[in-house]
Amino acid sequence: MWTKEQLQETIKEKMGGYLLVAVSNRQPFSHVMKSGKIICQRQPGGVITALHPVLQATGGTWISVGVSPFDRQAVDSNQKVKLPYENPTYELRRIFLSKDEMDRYYYGYANEGLWPLSHIAYTRPSFAASDWATYQQVNRTFADTILKEVGEQKAFVWVHDFHLTLVGKYLREANRPNLVTSFFWHIPWPNSEAFRICPQKEEILEGLLAYDLLGFQIRHHCDNFLAAVDQELESRIDREKTAVNFQTHETLIRPFPISIDFQAVSQQASSERVVQCTERIRDEYAMRDKKILVGVDRIDYTKGIPEKFRAVDRFLEKYPGYKEKFVLFQLGQVSRIHIQRYKDLNDELNLLVEEINWKHSQGTWVPIIFTRAYFSYDDILALYRIADVCLVSSLHDGMNLVAKEFVAARSDARGVLLLSQFTGAARELADSLLINPYDTETFADAIAQAFSMSLEEQEKRMRKMQAVVEQNNIYRWAGKVLSQLLKFEFQEA
Ligand code: G6P
Repeated sequence: MWTKEQLQETIKEKMGGYLLVAVSNRQPFSHVMKSGKIICQRQPGGVITALHPVLQATGGTWISVGVSPFDRQAVDSNQKVKLPYENPTYELRRIFLSKDEMDRYYYGYANEGLWPLSHIAYTRPSFAASDWATYQQVNRTFADTILKEVGEQKAFVWVHDFHLTLVGKYLREANRPNLVTSFFWHIPWPNSEAFRICPQKEEILEGLLAYDLLGFQIRHHCDNFLAAVDQELESRIDREKTAVNFQTHETLIRPFPISIDFQAVSQQASSERVVQCTERIRDEYAMRDKKILVGVDRIDYTKGIPEKFRAVDRFLEKYPGYKEKFVLFQLGQVSRIHIQRYKDLNDELNLLVEEINWKHSQGTWVPIIFTRAYFSYDDILALYRIADVCLVSSLHDGMNLVAKEFVAARSDARGVLLLSQFTGAARELADSLLINPYDTETFADAIAQAFSMSLEEQEKRMRKMQAVVEQNNIYRWAGKVLSQLLKFEFQEA
């Protein structure tokens, strides 16, 4: 099995002399003010869950956007801060953008254009020409920062996600033979019918084909990408090698299903600290003596949160005997709130919770507890530990690491995972109960099935899923990427 140490060994052996530079829009930690003190808060999202343990193992520099005024105060003259705060192993180099740049590059082109384009969630993408101009300009800022960071050193530059498709191209234009570049697309890649509406489709594809290695979550997304290249660009697709030759450059295309640090999550979830959190949360939200459904999602229209609430509503209509016997605890992590679609979703969620709770409430009991409070990572692990059932109902999701974290957190082999069949994770976690979030009827029945599952059955399914996630952990994922990039043979550990 791949471990942190194994990855470190591999890097020492194969990557000697290379600096590792990871690049993403979202930073792993943000400095915020809490009760009069500046603290360093872990950030949400799959990119952070996956990459933070990798950078802890490899060291190097992580370049991302700083967002708060306290982020500015915390950096040194090179815009850097050492992380994690208690026990630093890598450096975070922050880029600061103006409000206008954030509006057009992050909220605009990335999140109103590419995000809905890539997810089949029936939210219409919009592509404003001025957003595209700023998107290009911010991608250049990233490339310039990388070049400054690397100087003349040999470096492996690992860029992440849809915010930064053009960085590789700008690096190539700088003509630095000292750089090896890789890009990982964390979200689904749409089919070519959906992709072809993007006005900048050629530029995006050309940008991506400037990287040496291009990774997607699953083979299906690689195939969709190749179909888009085939349709839109003059290039040569080498099916044998699964590579694209565009102009004079070759890019390898590979699936790398992303994962988590199974052992670390499992250990932390069993720690005394987390046990204390479980006690506190149970009391604070009056959840003792109840069956508990847990949802942990960024508040995003791709996550199927209204669908989850409607399934609970239908569940209560069909199985009224469960009134007062369970509660759905939904943690919503606030995200991209300056975009109208996200404001509308927040309003919709408030109304739905109000309506469903009013309809079914009895005495002090309501079926849905929905909170947007900040939960520390210990608190999130505590939620996984108290869950009888974890509900992941994404309408479309590249992977979904909440599903994998839940599995890793349950060293007691209890609990049932209800997982949307439209997540990348569904391909690996075949022992979950797979649901279609659009089908309220069968979703409601699956909740009933989960509640009545015997402990033996829970344990059998959970152990099988744990074996999968433990084996395909984040260090193996990183090892696979490195082996492709540095052209050595990947070996199972
Ligand atoms: C998804 C994306 C990430 C992003 C995360 C959180 O997982 O793939 O790139 O960081 O969502 O979204 P946010 O916009 O809040 O960073």
